[in-house]
Amino acid sequence: MEDFYKKILDNNKEWVEKTLEKDPNYFKDLAKGQKPPLLWIGCSDSRVPANEIIGAKPGEVFVHRNIANMVVHSDMNMLSVLDYSVNVLKVKHVIVCGHYGCGGVKAAMGNDSIGIIDNWIRHIKDVYRFHESYLDAIVDEEARFNAFVEVNVKEQVLDLAKTSIVQAAWRSGQDLTVHGWVYGLNSGYVTDLNVNLSSNKDLDEVYQLKF
Ligand code: CO
Repeated sequence: MEDFYKKILDNNKEWVEKTLEKDPNYFKDLAKGQKPPLLWIGCSDSRVPANEIIGAKPGEVFVHRNIANMVVHSDMNMLSVLDYSVNVLKVKHVIVCGHYGCGGVKAAMGNDSIGIIDNWIRHIKDVYRFHESYLDAIVDEEARFNAFVEVNVKEQVLDLAKTSIVQAAWRSGQDLTVHGWVYGLNSGYVTDLNVNLSSNKDLDEVYQLKF
């Protein structure tokens, strides 16, 4: 068997043994249920593992990941995760975490056709178009790329706030805040972009739902 594949199965056994040594009831307790206070919406990039970055243990973070941490309002997968998190698990925080050096965002800046993913990247290109004058004014390509990663996260936070799920929770007085972060692949640190929304009043009026 291929070394890497065999290694990960061995790693699992080792992890179970070590964990049980510290706490014989660890898995028995975890199996009883989950009550994570946080939903994480991040990039599928293998270098941005949600739990590790924030030192969260199993049971502490509900996770949804896709290419370039997008909140696409017709994506049934994202909507289902969001609905379950907000209405069943009652998470208090939703964090959209992008990262510098994101391949999906980079692809959206260019014109190469990669395949079916072009249609996913389209959503990120729309973000570029919304912020075209701001982004085009940044001459340095690396700086423009970084700024694009940041505005993309901010747009996804707003897109979360625009969902009927989040607005209904706010309407019913639920304690729920949505946040935007960017992770630095080469530093390990996250930057809080200070887009912390806990009501729909910061949305353009056309998006504010009345219940
Ligand atoms: Co990425």
